[in-house]
Amino acid sequence: MKKWIKRIAYFLLLGLIIIQFFPGEKPAVSADNPGDIHNEVLVNPEVSGILKAACYDCHSNETNYPWYASVAPVSWLVIHDTNEGRDELNFSEWATYSAKRKHHKLEEVIEMVEEGEMPLAVYNITHPEGRLTDAQIEALISWAKARMEEITL
Ligand code: HEC
Repeated sequence: MKKWIKRIAYFLLLGLIIIQFFPGEKPAVSADNPGDIHNEVLVNPEVSGILKAACYDCHSNETNYPWYASVAPVSWLVIHDTNEGRDELNFSEWATYSAKRKHHKLEEVIEMVEEGEMPLAVYNITHPEGRLTDAQIEALISWAKARMEEITL
């Protein structure tokens, strides 16, 4: 019995070592994003802080990868979430969105934070700054509402 447990542990360890040769490719990071939402609409310091701390890792080109983002299998999850997050909503490329899309994305932001669906729960495990307080959620929502009103459809 004990022998089996040892064997399984060896195999798991071996598996972990082998997958390190396949960490995957992390989406590129760019600090220079002229189309960023900050350059286009008013983002007050409070909301800017919330977006950068709780959303920008997955929804901008300014992803801040922690060291474990390079360790498989966590790297695979980070790559997947970052790619999908950027595809859905990339604050660094805000200027390229149509008025209709901007309006819709702001509406989604409100819905997502109201329902507590964003940031993703898995993110909050290692990012306590991503856990939004009620006051932060309110600030984000009223900011998004104000920006929606500025858009003429
Ligand atoms: C760990 C990565 C991650 C973080 C952090 C994160 N998101 Fe997301 N977000 C995703 C992924 C992945 C999707 C697409 C899949 C889904 O909807 O669950 C998504 C989808 C969305 C959508 C839906 C877009 C659409 O049109 O359907 C909105 C809006 C959104 N996120 C807003 C936010 C906001 C606001 C924050 C910060 C408060 C945030 N997200 C933080 C990964 C993340």
